[in-house]
Amino acid sequence: MIRLPLVAGNWKMHKTIAEARQLVPELVYGLQDIEGVQKVLCPPFTALLSVKALLEGTDIGLGAQNMFWETEGAYTGEVSPKMVAELCQYVILGHSERRIYFGETDEGVRRKVKAALAVGLSPIVCVGETLEENENGKTEVVVRRQLEEGLRGVELEVDESGGVPLLVAYEPVWAIGTGKAASGEIANRVVEEVIRPTLASLYGERVAQAVRVLYGGSVKAANAAEFFEQPGIDGALVGGASLKAEEFIGIVSAAASSKQRQLT
Ligand code: PGA
Repeated sequence: MIRLPLVAGNWKMHKTIAEARQLVPELVYGLQDIEGVQKVLCPPFTALLSVKALLEGTDIGLGAQNMFWETEGAYTGEVSPKMVAELCQYVILGHSERRIYFGETDEGVRRKVKAALAVGLSPIVCVGETLEENENGKTEVVVRRQLEEGLRGVELEVDESGGVPLLVAYEPVWAIGTGKAASGEIANRVVEEVIRPTLASLYGERVAQAVRVLYGGSVKAANAAEFFEQPGIDGALVGGASLKAEEFIGIVSAAASSKQRQLT
């Protein structure tokens, strides 16, 4: 089973429209010749429309960082799945920062995942343990629960192209924005021993093997290859390093060369 690698830049709450207009052309230029990797930018809502225009005619996809599950209504401050789907192909859901700072729960993630799939968006569902959970040996239990609860009742099938319209990002909370990435080997072990078996128990082996699983947490150009060389890791969700053109381009090109090597 060949899973096309994907590298997504999660800009978080960074970049005004004016700043995005400076960064995106640099990314477009630097990424244009890199093949065999899906590239995705996830700017804040306010910059989505401008970034979409700048990406016109390129192979770079667009994603949002969150959305609400209701289609429309009196939900001040929220953005609906159909609004996101007008602009984007992807949406990051259940990011640990949303869970920690905005009280997002597994149940909320589940509703959002269903709503995203219903409008044709590909959700990138984030899971990962905190430092405390990690130190207490709870990684497996936490990640399995987040997947089982976050995906309960969500239907997934392999489509004609052999893919599944949902991605999982393994992002250990202790590695996010800290400069302390997990080792490639440890991250791969969580993917192979926890994430794919949990997906297999929910959907069967065929779907589990088709879902792309990304690693996220302090990925930069200098350490990216360590993750992409792991057989279970199909790409990266990049925060801080996605704000610098050179870094992000370096990460995407590491994905292209590592995954190319695995195929030959
Ligand atoms: P980081 O963030 O690359 O800045 O650690 C990753 C993420 O939160 O998706």
